[in-house]
Amino acid sequence: MIGRLNHIAIVVPDLAAAATLYRETLGATVSAPHELEEHGVTTVFVDLPNTKIELLHPLGGQSPIASFLERNPSGGVHHVCYEVDDIRAARDRLKARGARVLGDGEPKLGAHGKPVLFLHPKDFLGTLIELEER
Ligand code: CO
Repeated sequence: MIGRLNHIAIVVPDLAAAATLYRETLGATVSAPHELEEHGVTTVFVDLPNTKIELLHPLGGQSPIASFLERNPSGGVHHVCYEVDDIRAARDRLKARGARVLGDGEPKLGAHGKPVLFLHPKDFLGTLIELEER
């Protein structure tokens, strides 16, 4: 059911320093920061030949990643995102197998303007999974 790895998201304490690390030390192609107010994050996209890395930093007082950064003050891997062809069909299949979908279970528009859902990390080996419709 799942397809390509769309991205891995890493929460970072200092977005400019993280962008410099990926650009200068690792030699990657790195975007300018994007403020996504409706998601409570600022992102920098790192383009790799086969996938993307999203560097995330909290934006505003209600950021969903603020508590993650408090628990992981030097940063850490936050989630992995897999592509699916039909996000509602994927959700129904997962729920039928007992997996928990976060929030109200309805897909929301994600950072790339496509429908996304998140799956409970306790049902997936301790890893928060994002599904994004292709
Ligand atoms: Co993501």
